[in-house]
Amino acid sequence: MVLLEAKGLVKGFRRGLAGFRAVDGVSLSVGQGEFVSLTGRSGSGKTTLLSLLAGLLGPDGGDVLLRGRSIFALGDAGLARLRNREIGFLPQGRSLLGNLTVLDNVRLPFHLARRQGGSRQRALELLGDLSLAHLAGNRPHELSGGELRRVALARALMNSPELVVADEPTGDLDLGTAASLIRLIRDINSRGVAFLVATHDLDLCRGLGRVLEMSGGRLVDGASAGRS
Ligand SMILES: Nc1ncnc2c1ncn2[C@@H]1O[C@H](COP(=O)(O)OP(=O)(O)O)[C@@H](O)[C@H]1O
Ligand SMILES: [Mg+2]
Repeated sequence: MVLLEAKGLVKGFRRGLAGFRAVDGVSLSVGQGEFVSLTGRSGSGKTTLLSLLAGLLGPDGGDVLLRGRSIFALGDAGLARLRNREIGFLPQGRSLLGNLTVLDNVRLPFHLARRQGGSRQRALELLGDLSLAHLAGNRPHELSGGELRRVALARALMNSPELVVADEPTGDLDLGTAASLIRLIRDINSRGVAFLVATHDLDLCRGLGRVLEMSGGRLVDGASAGRS
């Protein structure tokens, strides 16, 4: 079953006096439990596309459907709820809040979604799953790059989304750390969580699922052959 679908997405920006399209008519779909890699050079539009798909950015044209329903028809409150609950997002670069502990960073989406009940147990379980339990009380500046990425992954999983969108999760990691992060992502994917991962490290994602390639804001034809 199709979980997420993009139809003719367009997003333009201004550069000086001229406008250009960072995303220029992209259509794609991600199935339930699927693993999709999004590759392409720096500047090809990956981050802009992921931001549209996760509802962080509004499109100039086209639509994003989650389980067949337009996410942009939801209104601001509905969109915020969707971002918090339905799609886990791992932004490019460092994204943890420096004044919160690791545990509180992971708990944050639960409280932003105004969910009832406690978040502490779930957050501690996730930290344990990702071998981070010993760092629960530390602050982000005390962690390594790989640990920070695992915390961001735990945070993205906090509300048990069916889909995680990750923007270059291994971008600034050494090869060994990157490989172990991808192994973790693969484990989580094998438990049924779909992933859409923008990456330069296609080698790391080889054999995991479908590969899409972007160039100049468009998907390159023929790069989406299945290899699961
Ligand atoms: N907020 C913005 N304003 C203007 N231009 C932008 C903005 N965000 C991205 N761009 C431009 O859009 C293009 C695509 O950027 P991006 O989506 O970040 O690509 P990628 O993630 O593949 O490196 C780039 O040329 C970038 O400079
Ligand atoms: Mg990017």
